Amino acid sequence: MHFPEILLKKRNGGRLSAAEIDYFVSGYVKGTIPDYQMSALLMAIWFVGLNDTETAELTFAMRDSGETIDLSGITGMKVDKHSTGGVADTTTLITAPIAAACGLKVAKMSGRGLGHTGGTIDKLESIPGFRTDISMHRFREIVDHSGMSIIGQTRELVPADKLLYALRGTTGTVDNISLISSSIMSKKLASGSETIVLDVKTGNGAFMKSVKDAERLARVMVAIGQKAGKKIAALVTDMNQPLGNAVGNALEVREAIEILQGNHEGDLQKVSIALSAQLLYLSGLAQDETAATKAAIEALESGRALEQLAAMIKAQRGEPDVCINPDLLPTADRLEPIVSECSGYVTDIATDEIGLAALLLGAGRVKKTDIIDPAVGIWLMKRVGDYVEKGEELAFFHVNSTDRLEEARLRFIKAFRLGKLQPTQHPMIYTTIS
Ligand code: URA
Ligand code: CA
Repeated sequence: MHFPEILLKKRNGGRLSAAEIDYFVSGYVKGTIPDYQMSALLMAIWFVGLNDTETAELTFAMRDSGETIDLSGITGMKVDKHSTGGVADTTTLITAPIAAACGLKVAKMSGRGLGHTGGTIDKLESIPGFRTDISMHRFREIVDHSGMSIIGQTRELVPADKLLYALRGTTGTVDNISLISSSIMSKKLASGSETIVLDVKTGNGAFMKSVKDAERLARVMVAIGQKAGKKIAALVTDMNQPLGNAVGNALEVREAIEILQGNHEGDLQKVSIALSAQLLYLSGLAQDETAATKAAIEALESGRALEQLAAMIKAQRGEPDVCINPDLLPTADRLEPIVSECSGYVTDIATDEIGLAALLLGAGRVKKTDIIDPAVGIWLMKRVGDYVEKGEELAFFHVNSTDRLEEARLRFIKAFRLGKLQPTQHPMIYTTIS
């Protein structure tokens, strides 16, 4: 096989065989195919596209480029969830404990935040002592005994994605549904769970700006999962405003704990319950979606989900008392109220700009090597549809440094659009694809 033939075939609109796809994935990982050739192929794929069969083959080739996690020694139904990424999207820290409290085994590998979106690993590391770099052996043990564990992705998991994602980031080839699907699904399939629920975000804070594109992405990923023999469903959910009130690592952990304590409600809670209900239904632990939702709410309201979170924190050497007293989480030196410069209804929130404002305060990274401050971030006081008086607080910034405070404030203020009329609300959950 010759790489230039594969490249020309795709450029000219042809379909690649499984053997050709295996050849370029393994060649790229081995280093026998250089970046310039791979870049050209990615761009050809971006323009010509991959059909569903090619997309699944690419996913499987990527999955098999490194180690795959064997969870078969763990008793019970092993489940995983994945969000395509958003702002104030702490669903994992609520959904996983609810699922575990209902008897599922949650084995999740998560990523770090980059750009305007947060990452579960960074959030968990804001808990004093918490370790996300534990061994695979210990990971399996914690899932088996405590019902859930969340760790960072190992270096050996889908090396093809690490290389391809970095290359896509610099060659204008990130935003292609087949490439996104294979990237996400190769990691989900390598992680070993039998049931997977995807949360595909749509809106101004998401990769997929339109509901139609998000549904397409969801359909492609669900089809890949089914081809691999998984029980899988995707919820398409709204990201036209931050999902919860907290943006920033310790603040998001605090919000998740407050929800699990029963002290906080809202869209973050709703989407988290819907995701856990879907896990329960797909796993066969509930007869229908109504019963699944009831079980999820019961796990939350009884406090059993909070106990699950505390058990995982303890098993991963963190301070479990944060679940009783969130004040044990790192806190910022200062609270800075951000007030509205006019009156009116909140009609729009530029969600990615809110993420970027939090990033300026030190809550996120621009480059992979940036160091984040776990304590800082934004606590939102208003959502789309709320009425705001001039001088009223839109949010509180939690700050440790004033270096970029003014820049963050201006960015934040501009992200909130006010109008005279109350806007119609976006639905929180658009569709479920299974
Ligand atoms: N998340 C991923 O892991 N990969 C993509 O390509 C896009 C989002
Ligand atoms: Ca976030």
